[in-house]
Amino acid sequence: MKNLLNIALPKGRLGSNVLGCFEKAGYPCPDIHASTRRLVFENPEAGVRYFWVKPSDVAIYVERGAADLGVAGKDILLEYVPKVYELLDTGMGVCRMAVAGPKDFRDDPSRTLRVATKFPRIARDHYGAKSREIDIIHLNGSIELAPILGLSDVIVDIIETGTTLRENDLAPLEDIVPVSARLIANQVSYQFKHAEIDRLCRDLDQFLAQRQEEKK
Ligand code: PRP
Repeated sequence: MKNLLNIALPKGRLGSNVLGCFEKAGYPCPDIHASTRRLVFENPEAGVRYFWVKPSDVAIYVERGAADLGVAGKDILLEYVPKVYELLDTGMGVCRMAVAGPKDFRDDPSRTLRVATKFPRIARDHYGAKSREIDIIHLNGSIELAPILGLSDVIVDIIETGTTLRENDLAPLEDIVPVSARLIANQVSYQFKHAEIDRLCRDLDQFLAQRQEEKK
């Protein structure tokens, strides 16, 4: 009996793409494709047990050892700084963390800047490095509404296609950091399931590199 690897996948489009890569890299799980409301799926032959979790919760499952491995956005890793090992940049879920606001926005350094965000630590670090005084307005979604309604001057948020900004007459003002999905590991699992984790990591890396090559 193989030592199963418990893998937390982010629910949604990114998660489905990530699962596709795991499967093509040699870790398939036919059961997961049956349309059910189940959350846990395993394939002992391939040595994997997958489960779907909210994308922002993946790092918590991995940090606390409920999952050996997971796939989490760099944005989440920078915001929550979980004690996990970052093993691989999957190159999927590519977007950027940026400051955005009204197209004609001009910063007035004599006033405290009001920043709405789901990522207070990233915003604080970004403006802290420039010694810019800010007032963080911590929201949980629809961040773009804040400058439109005058709740904030700017936002710190993810930009993927830029559609949400464009459709709300906002514009990117400053890039903070590129973001993509990372393979992360629990630190204890990494010791005790080292051979299995290492093999999966190498297989996935190889598959991703090959796919990249084919795209050229
Ligand atoms: C994210 C992000 C932006 C949007 C960016 O929101 O917070 O609002 O996607 O994507 P785009 O550049 O392709 O338009 P999400 O869809 O997670 O919803 P939320 O408003 O609940 O945060």
